[in-house]
Amino acid sequence: MQTAGTALVVVAHHRPDSLTVHIGERVASRLAEAGFEVDVLDLHREHFDPRMNVEDQPDWSDRDKVYSELTRSHQDRLLAADVIVPVFPVYWFSVPAILKGWIDRVWGYGFAYGRSQPRLAGKRMLWLGLAGTSAEDPMSPKMHQAIEEQLRDGVSYFCGIAEAGVEVLFGSEAQPQTVDEQGTLIVGEPLEGAEREAFYADFGREATGHVEKFFSLS
Ligand SMILES: Cc1cc2nc3c(=O)[nH]c(=O)nc-3n(C[C@H](O)[C@H](O)[C@H](O)COP(=O)(O)O)c2cc1C
Repeated sequence: MQTAGTALVVVAHHRPDSLTVHIGERVASRLAEAGFEVDVLDLHREHFDPRMNVEDQPDWSDRDKVYSELTRSHQDRLLAADVIVPVFPVYWFSVPAILKGWIDRVWGYGFAYGRSQPRLAGKRMLWLGLAGTSAEDPMSPKMHQAIEEQLRDGVSYFCGIAEAGVEVLFGSEAQPQTVDEQGTLIVGEPLEGAEREAFYADFGREATGHVEKFFSLS
């Protein structure tokens, strides 16, 4: 059977029961339903080491440098993908360290950039971030913009992926938080049972909606 192509879903969260992992699963199954062969790269469960090392450090005088075996296996997964969807919690207006380290080590010079014919050109990429703040928070547009600049412009566009976007799912805390008149953070009880399921389901719908729109899925 002909498939719609290959999708690489990159998940960056330490807790298997987290909202982020749930969204990664929902995105993967929506892409599979649309006919993609889905490769789920769960960085924590694969014990990915995000620390840069000598083997994976770019050599500016050698764009054909042979990177570590692990990095080459990740690069192969990227090359095999037609669409790439990293799913992550927003940390400090950015990505968590494990995802940052994956970009640092795997998206290396000579592989992801530094060639007149970029190897990743023609792929489509949607970054899906989950942010604790609400969409109405005055910081949220700034945060979205910062993430867009770092990831879409600084990584995807820089590496020749012209069709790239960033979506942020706001209000991702399953333990509701409010700030009182004195500016004190009030942390509510964690959502449980049916309430938690409904919360996860809402986010799942929002995430798959973004995926459907971005990749024009039927
Ligand atoms: C280290 C750290 C940094 C965070 N930075 C931000 C941030 O800059 N903006 C934001 O909206 N939320 C931030 N958050 C909240 C997370 O985005 C939120 O907890 C997460 O998306 C909830 O989903 P999860 O249950 O899958 O972790 C941060 C959380 C942590 C632990």
